[in-house]
Amino acid sequence: MALGSTLPEAYESKLYGEYSGIYDLIFARFFYPRIAAVIRDLRIPAGAKVLELGVGTGMALRAYPTHCNVTGVDLAPDMLERAQERIDRRGWRHIELHQMDAMNLDFDDSSFDYVMAFHVVSVVPSADKFMKEAQRVCKPDGKIVVINHFRSDQPVLAAIDRKIEPITRRVGWHTLGREEVFAGLPLELSRVYKTSRRSLFTIVVARNAKQDGAIEAASVPPQVVGAGAQGQDAAAH
Ligand SMILES: C[S@@+](CC[C@H](N)C(=O)[O-])C[C@H]1O[C@@H](n2cnc3c(N)ncnc32)[C@H](O)[C@@H]1O
Repeated sequence: MALGSTLPEAYESKLYGEYSGIYDLIFARFFYPRIAAVIRDLRIPAGAKVLELGVGTGMALRAYPTHCNVTGVDLAPDMLERAQERIDRRGWRHIELHQMDAMNLDFDDSSFDYVMAFHVVSVVPSADKFMKEAQRVCKPDGKIVVINHFRSDQPVLAAIDRKIEPITRRVGWHTLGREEVFAGLPLELSRVYKTSRRSLFTIVVARNAKQDGAIEAASVPPQVVGAGAQGQDAAAH
């Protein structure tokens, strides 16, 4: 429980603990097709090193090509247990899991070509620490890929998000603005898009623009490049 708050932190939700068994039953049908399409679009090359933060039950794992090396981390032992069962069942040798706090990663700087964060930025207590760690362990020019629901730019929808926040916090997530997550880091948002017009989820593919493995203190908002028909969606939320 957060100090000074009567609401539980999103990451403390029973959904990631004793109710983790129902996580896939509820969410896989909705989340997996989008995740698979995003990973397919990345065309991850052979030998690439991929880190998935908040890997959960390992829902995304079957979407990665077997020619890359995937490391999944999560804080919740129950979620990881399910992910490990999945790996064992399939006999995947290109994937390993670690119990680890994504806001304090036990990896060297610039260790990964891709850092993935699917439906997790709004679960961790600090999106800021989370993104800084993602960027630290990602190689310069590597890709950070985030799928998340962000607060709408439309006032009515944003008000609904705020209204239901106490409920979603209990279920296991809260709602952030996209700019809160990406501001202040040297990232180039190369694609910001949705897989369908009405989707509540936005996909952000960012190039890590740090130099020589160092995190720069960026004073400007992240740049959006490569905007096109499938690129930047100004209304994306
Ligand atoms: C909504 S689930 C998403 C799981 C998976 N990425 C997916 O798309 O199905 C959020 C996950 O983030 C994990 N999580 C929360 N806080 C974390 C932290 N500080 N470090 C690592 N994982 C965390 C939870 O345990 C949970 O498995």
